[in-house]
Amino acid sequence: MVAAADFSTDTGPRHVAVIMDGNGRWAQARGMFRTAGHRSGMEAVRRIVESARALEIPYLTIFGFSAENWGRPVEEVEELMLLLRLYLRSEIADLHKNGVRLRVIGERSRLAADIVNLIEHGETLTAGNSKLNFTVALSYGGRQDVVQAAQKLAEAAIAGEVTPQSIDQDAISARLWTAELPDPDLVIRTSGEQRISNFFLWQSAYAELIFLDTLWPDFSKADLEHAIREFRRRERRYGAVVTNR
Ligand code: IPE
Ligand code: IPE
Ligand code: MG
Repeated sequence: MVAAADFSTDTGPRHVAVIMDGNGRWAQARGMFRTAGHRSGMEAVRRIVESARALEIPYLTIFGFSAENWGRPVEEVEELMLLLRLYLRSEIADLHKNGVRLRVIGERSRLAADIVNLIEHGETLTAGNSKLNFTVALSYGGRQDVVQAAQKLAEAAIAGEVTPQSIDQDAISARLWTAELPDPDLVIRTSGEQRISNFFLWQSAYAELIFLDTLWPDFSKADLEHAIREFRRRERRYGAVVTNR
């Protein structure tokens, strides 16, 4: 066991982002439909939010549904949207009670109107909370994020608000869907796959990447603690030379 105090903001990670993968394989290994894996994965989402709160991690982001996941069979997409509705309906009050601030990032216009309403309700209700900043990436793609930021910059240029020479990294970061979030320090991917799958391309420039074999529905607080311990063993150099040794 690792005490919460071990994870103070001084030592990080301040922002943990998770590519939740392996629901389908978890179900297939049990002779069940993939959708059963997604249902079980939803429980793992509840668990990680609770664990992040207990470990006093200030920012937690989960990759819930990628822009590319729309290309899955229509029944699977429908089941995922159904689970999303269930999650939002059942969890928003609890998140609020527990001091969690909910944000959703991604191509919101592609989501059904009732889901957008639930999201807006959740974001408004929890806007004043600060115990945990919990962000769900839905219909999210890292490239799509950069594209929409470029569109905003082009519009600002046409309006005379920015000049091409004034565009710097901060100008881009401020227009990403993640503008209100610090860059992730730690990106965890479950299920043994070692790829980013179009997640935080810009934001992960100096994130530590940790790949776990655990399938997402099996993800526990112990897995999160293990990843954080591993993160804290790593030496982050940001391209510089470490001089204190
Ligand atoms: C992650 O599990 C959930 C989503 C991407 C929505 P998968 O559904 O990708 O499960 P695997 O990778 O097929 O096992
Ligand atoms: C990434 O998982 C997307 C999410 C976790 C939401 P995928 O299962 O869609 O990624 P690939 O297909 O293995 O790259
Ligand atoms: Mg997958």
